[in-house]
Amino acid sequence: GLKIVTIGGGSSYTPELIEGFIKRHGELPVRELWLVDIEAGREKLEIVGAMAKRMVQAAGIDCEIRLTLDRREALQGADFVTTQFRVGLLDARIKDEAIPLKHGMIGQETNGAGGMLKAFRTVPVVLGIVEDMKELCPNAWLINFTNPAGMVTEAVLRYGQWEKVIGLCNVPVMAVKTESALLQKEESELFFKFAGINHLHWHRVYDKDGSEVTAELIDKLYGPDADPGRIVENIRDMRFLPEQIAQLGMLPCPYHRYYYMTDNMLEEEREEARHAGTRGQVVKQLEASLFELYQDPKLDYKPKELEQRGGAYYSDAACEIINAIYNNKGTQMVVNTRNRGAISDLPYDSAVEVSCLITAHGAEPVHFGAFPPAQRGLLQVMKAMEELTVEAAVTGDYATALQAFTLNPLVTSGDAARLVLDELLDAHQAYLPQF
Ligand code: NAD
Ligand code: G6P
Ligand code: MN
Repeated sequence: GLKIVTIGGGSSYTPELIEGFIKRHGELPVRELWLVDIEAGREKLEIVGAMAKRMVQAAGIDCEIRLTLDRREALQGADFVTTQFRVGLLDARIKDEAIPLKHGMIGQETNGAGGMLKAFRTVPVVLGIVEDMKELCPNAWLINFTNPAGMVTEAVLRYGQWEKVIGLCNVPVMAVKTESALLQKEESELFFKFAGINHLHWHRVYDKDGSEVTAELIDKLYGPDADPGRIVENIRDMRFLPEQIAQLGMLPCPYHRYYYMTDNMLEEEREEARHAGTRGQVVKQLEASLFELYQDPKLDYKPKELEQRGGAYYSDAACEIINAIYNNKGTQMVVNTRNRGAISDLPYDSAVEVSCLITAHGAEPVHFGAFPPAQRGLLQVMKAMEELTVEAAVTGDYATALQAFTLNPLVTSGDAARLVLDELLDAHQAYLPQF
């Protein structure tokens, strides 16, 4: 049987992970699942851990749930390690959102100045986990969903020198679900070809006969008469400019709104922050009500309310990746992995988010080729920004951090960049030993 270790086990998303393993227990024999957290998350770990035990018991499967604050004890002999932690918990996220906003810039957990700060806090912890894995479970796979998931994958590949890593996001999962439903097709009847980086990718869609149906979907989702709706719960359904999306000839991801509609999104964000608080503040309330539910000793299944979180379905996708690796399935999934030439516009060794086949030897990217200038320009700037951000996260070099901030399209350059960077570094000092 398999030993799985989940770091950040106290996350409110954990019930989805448990459900995912229960659903697949016939082909994926998980015998031990270790939920690891830290002192600050002890209470969450205990509540969600007790619920995980009830779920497993109700399903009648042979899987032992272990709770621990000792990461090294858990990692010993693991087969798969999943990471879903948040350094500094939601209070740190709220600062990532509120401080840039105060400076007139987008404040978001994975984009702009806030996203870069989240990388500064997260990368050292992830690299520490990789060092432990080298020693305690050198054959294990690392399946990461900790944000910023693309930069975390980049850091693990480039600085951790660890090849067995796959980064995961639910945005492509949600897009596949939404678009199949719009075309009234089964997911398996369509072929999706994604390319880009985490939270900044574009895709094309083909039907069973090989005909491209991208234009039809662009029109249905973003045409002049479309009602865009929400693909993920955390992003407003702001309208794109239809001419611009049509020119791309590919489907954008919901996060493109921050880059294509910056002023409008900033205005929305300000408005929302005034009324309901930042997304992190909203999530704090959501999380409190979820944990209220999880404490009910009769609750032994994943409650519907979890779908109000932006990351719905990402844990299920993680279980599917583990299943595809363990059973050498060749499943098609969109993940963060080393480019290896799949996108010719980006460095060969960089982490990219692309359609892949998942087999026993991991993620094999489907070749994509080159992007037209509109996509290529933004993508190359953003990848360079990611490289600098990861380098700054590892070295703690201030000038490199400033360069990353300057390159980010969502950060105003010059003194404004310096001011927002300084305030963020100061606010997060406790989690930034490298600076
Ligand atoms: P959360 O605030 O509930 O944090 C999860 C747990 O991590 C907490 O219990 C916390 O105590 C623990 N933790 C913090 N530092 C730790 C450390 N050093 N070691 C071990 N555990 C630690 O967060 P959440 O809302 O469940 O989100 C978790 C992570 O997943 C975040 O980084 C978030 O951005 C990310 N996420 C990713 C996606 C995706 O698409 N990839 C979707 C949703 C969330
Ligand atoms: C999205 C993303 C995640 C993101 C999250 C936020 O869909 O894919 O990477 O960070 O959901 O959700 P939340 O409910 O925490 O705002
Ligand atoms: Mn994501």
